[in-house]
Amino acid sequence: GLSASAALARRPSITGAELRSAVPLPPPFQVPLPIPSLLKPVSADRYEITQREASAEILPGLKTPLWTYEGTFPGPTIESRRGRPITVTHRNELPVPTVVHLHGGRTPAASDGYPTDLVLPEGWPRATVHHGHGMHDPRAVVTQLTRDYTFPLDQRPTLLWYHDHRMDFTAPAIWRGLAGLHIVRDGAEDSLGLPAGRRELPLVIVDRAFAADGSLDYPALDPTLRERPGVPEPYLAGVLGDVILVNGAPWPVHEADATRYRLRILNASNARHYELEAVTDDGRRLDLVQIGADQGLLATPVTHRLLPIAPAERYDVVVDFSGVPVGSRVRLLNRLGSGRTRDVMAFVVARKAADDSRIPPILSTDLPTWRRTDAVGVREFAFRTGRMRGGHGWLIGGQPFDPARSDVTTRLGDVEVWRLIADVHHPVHLHLVGFRVLSRRGRPPLPHDAGLKDTVSLRPGEAVEIITRFDGYRGRYLFHCHNAEHEDMAMMANLEIV
Ligand code: C2O
Ligand code: CU
Repeated sequence: GLSASAALARRPSITGAELRSAVPLPPPFQVPLPIPSLLKPVSADRYEITQREASAEILPGLKTPLWTYEGTFPGPTIESRRGRPITVTHRNELPVPTVVHLHGGRTPAASDGYPTDLVLPEGWPRATVHHGHGMHDPRAVVTQLTRDYTFPLDQRPTLLWYHDHRMDFTAPAIWRGLAGLHIVRDGAEDSLGLPAGRRELPLVIVDRAFAADGSLDYPALDPTLRERPGVPEPYLAGVLGDVILVNGAPWPVHEADATRYRLRILNASNARHYELEAVTDDGRRLDLVQIGADQGLLATPVTHRLLPIAPAERYDVVVDFSGVPVGSRVRLLNRLGSGRTRDVMAFVVARKAADDSRIPPILSTDLPTWRRTDAVGVREFAFRTGRMRGGHGWLIGGQPFDPARSDVTTRLGDVEVWRLIADVHHPVHLHLVGFRVLSRRGRPPLPHDAGLKDTVSLRPGEAVEIITRFDGYRGRYLFHCHNAEHEDMAMMANLEIV
């Protein structure tokens, strides 16, 4: 078949071949949009999550086995207040070790979910934990049967998400359902008057493919396949499915008032990029007014007609249905999709209603304003495919991930500029810190690069500069590509803050 990079050259925005489901697919916009339930604390600021197998009727009449947090996909949403620490105890009842990472959290290293800090299932032989790369360093492995993750949440309010992060096995674990939302709020944001309550909707967008028995299809659940010749191409490029799920439902529909809505969008797909547009029945594109990025509110709103969203990115967007005729639809479409992957979900505007929400012209005044001259230095990292141990992998600076190697050491409090260079599409994520995009291809950042981010989409052939300050905590963190298959195929590096 075609090599991954040749496939990419044909269609630069799509990251690989798409799996075809072996079951009949339901028509779009029939299933009501589910809203993930809120997780109740077991006592003040303490939560418990059991990771377990469950099954769900995702496609009508079929049972899909899943790996879940608390039995659902997405997992339950945690809502917390800025600066009020919480502890989440994870118990692993899955058949494999797991790791929990709070994506976008400003978390001390011990609770950040380093890929070898395992939560073992009961009865798992502790002595035989090993990793597919064959580069496993026993000193780096921390194993426990349950784990308390402590999150200080001393950070700007935003939409975070928690997901599996085990070394070499993250992609299939997320694909099978190990992802959930975590919303941080504070009083300043609450008082802005943005759409709230049932007019604030989390939208977790993923693609999946289904086998004939209703189970989720995945090209290779055994990542050691990468060591063999003839690795299936979709696995190398990143896995794409032909079914779009929003909050776990296929192409759902939501009945809306003819008012403003706040959409808190997460692309939790392993590898699929989207360009979202909201299109009315009479072909008009509604404005997508971006109010926030990965790490919270923008300074001022940014209006998009087309909103690109890479894996792991979050966009906080207000859309106004007040001009849409009652009884008609607004479809959320993916301009990068074709056929069934063009549809995402729909809103049916059901009724006129009063709306006292607003979008203030100034959303926040606390965004960091680091300048190049603040930086102690510039580092450069190339995100490129390459040979590793006889097969193909994805490398940063020519190196595959190795938990035993030190890659980047920064000093707490230092500002640095990082220049990130890509061969194909790579959404690059830094743990612990938020950053700002300084430039793309030597030019000013794009409108959707606004605000404080923790994941930036490097498009094919692009060089992107970001600037950040390494503050918060000392310890060992990570940066990596968030195409989950690239991440599993070693596109990850250690970031040590000293
Ligand atoms: Cu969303 Cu290191 O991950
Ligand atoms: Cu990548």
